[in-house]
Amino acid sequence: MYLGLDLGTSGLRALLVDEAGAPIASESHAYAGAHPHPGWSEQDPAHWVAAVDLVLGKLKADHPERMAAMRGIGVSGHMHGATLLDAAGEVLRPCILWNDTRSFEEAAELDAIDGVRALSGNIVFPGFTAPKLLWVKRNEPEVFEKVAKVLLPAAYMNFFLTASYFADMSDSAGTSWLDVGARDWSDTLLAAGDMRADQMPDLVEGCEVGGTLRPDLADRWGMPASCVVVGGAGDNAAAACGVGAMSEGTGFVSLGTSGVLLTGRDGYAPLPESAVHTFCHAVPGQWYQMGVILAATDSLNWLSRITGTKPADLASELDEVNGPSSLRFLPYLSGERTPHNDSAIRGAFLNLEVAHERRDMTQAVMEGVAFALRDSAEALRSTGADLQSLLAIGGGAASRFWVQTIATLLDTPLDLPEAGDFGAALGAARLAMVGSGAGSVDDIMTRPAVAETIEPVADLRTAYEDAYQRWREIYPGVRTLK
Ligand code: XUL
Repeated sequence: MYLGLDLGTSGLRALLVDEAGAPIASESHAYAGAHPHPGWSEQDPAHWVAAVDLVLGKLKADHPERMAAMRGIGVSGHMHGATLLDAAGEVLRPCILWNDTRSFEEAAELDAIDGVRALSGNIVFPGFTAPKLLWVKRNEPEVFEKVAKVLLPAAYMNFFLTASYFADMSDSAGTSWLDVGARDWSDTLLAAGDMRADQMPDLVEGCEVGGTLRPDLADRWGMPASCVVVGGAGDNAAAACGVGAMSEGTGFVSLGTSGVLLTGRDGYAPLPESAVHTFCHAVPGQWYQMGVILAATDSLNWLSRITGTKPADLASELDEVNGPSSLRFLPYLSGERTPHNDSAIRGAFLNLEVAHERRDMTQAVMEGVAFALRDSAEALRSTGADLQSLLAIGGGAASRFWVQTIATLLDTPLDLPEAGDFGAALGAARLAMVGSGAGSVDDIMTRPAVAETIEPVADLRTAYEDAYQRWREIYPGVRTLK
């Protein structure tokens, strides 16, 4: 038996898988975030610990024999969060999350330092970890002074489970302190933010054992004391492990709250100026790249709130793709990462007319998200990435109209997986399997069975291409209008 823990932004999910990697049972528990000031987003790590204790207590009650046969645990975590510990391992302040934008000035400052992009392979985005620590240094110096360790959320969970400080490469790549090509902490990057290597956890690969479960926890959850904990992964790398997107040309488009276009890379090919994220993968010798748009289903959810109509009902008003709408939508409701790296930009509707109805607005919103994903595809292709084989996953993939619009705009067929479990928790469990010797990466990180392939609509390619080119001209105009 193996366990994948998905420490998410809105809750924690535990997934139990058997020796063949098949999901057996899962439990989850929600927790809230705190937003004490505009742009702030924090979580108390005590809530993660309470959640893991609760879900593992339930799994122990329902599956005692399986829990007693546990060989390994892998943790996936929401990325970039700063959990600050003192020398005694006590949490100094709430964790500052990936979607917290308070340190945008510090991010721009670090990003402008010569050599920072070259070493970290990425723009220093406002959500990344290094600018958060610079903010703490300036605004909470009494906390900064006491910082003995900075742990990402998954690494904090690793620490809780094992009492050892270790983090995996894929998550650590999102700190702006890692030399992403060399897969090692960079003294130069650390010094740029006044940090030291001894404040960082040990680095391991995601599928490498980092520690052994604490005996008291093994006892409490009815697990063997020999159970190991592997490095784990940041949530996007874990999701990639869950769908077998490991190597060149294999990837996914994910329509969640945010939208992600991700592809595996066999080598390190950073291109920070494209605003593509270039991170280590969770297995040795591999990297991945992704474009991130901040509001995918979040844009549809917004329209749903405005119109008082459920997102699924909005989506059901659109069936066949039959050409782009004249109405245009910019999905920058929370700013944008790829390709603009612009946290100040906001969304827009353009060309509204009296004849437009709710369904036209839904179509424009879905198309706006699809155009933004095409921007990410262009950015990824500019690094040399190949977007040959893509799965469509996430809640928004339930809309055939949306998936077909994206397939047409990317000019790439999109595979819809058969129903099942293939998220970050499965990816984390798979990392535990590899680390415990259950098989090789190739054996274990397989692709889910495909239920259907959605092809681009060939006849409409030119129409969508023209619409995309016109849509691209809106951003430069709108950004100066604030
Ligand atoms: C990736 C990112 C998000 C978080 C939240 O760069 O910020 O995907 O990992 O889940």
